[in-house]
Amino acid sequence: MTKIGRGGDRVRDEHSTRRDVLAALTAVGAVGVLPGPAAAEPDSERPQAGDLFVSQAGADSESVAPLKPADIPLGGPPVIAWPYDAAGHVVRKGSRLNKVLLLRLDPATLDDATRERAADGIVAYSAICPHAGCEVSVWVADQKIFECSCHYSHYNPRDAAAVLDGPTPRALAALPLKIVDGNLAVAKPFTGRVGIAPA
Ligand code: FES
Repeated sequence: MTKIGRGGDRVRDEHSTRRDVLAALTAVGAVGVLPGPAAAEPDSERPQAGDLFVSQAGADSESVAPLKPADIPLGGPPVIAWPYDAAGHVVRKGSRLNKVLLLRLDPATLDDATRERAADGIVAYSAICPHAGCEVSVWVADQKIFECSCHYSHYNPRDAAAVLDGPTPRALAALPLKIVDGNLAVAKPFTGRVGIAPA
């Protein structure tokens, strides 16, 4: 009992001492507030609901023109685009993880989950391959599938960009769409992680 009592007293004393030291340091301003994690710049933030899109080709032009459904050709090829915060006049091209593929397909050919995320048959997927982070840059027109030519993974855009073959560990993240005032817009954030899948 004595032992415990002595130990308890010692612990209380140590706590009291630490409290006193902290109080003293705070009083003289020696204890600062630790900085929190740095916020992402608006052009690097992931696409937000309500963002519009601009084509990669048009993103550097002075007058940004939001993409409309008619700008996306039926049956492909996909249009490479960046999300665009129209209110803040910010094209979110500060992170390559924001690059997306916009593709228009016959809605009747889409599986249920993909059709639900589509607007006018247009679907959006991350352009970054989860295998090693290359850009998914090839459209295989006769099969209407995406190819990452770094290590030849293939994705089926009609089935949530599911993996058809190749070393990639998972599907491309989808970006649900809607149409706002005649423009293509983001309905919800990416359905999953974008970029390289952790081992
Ligand atoms: S980076 Fe795309 S298949 Fe390897």
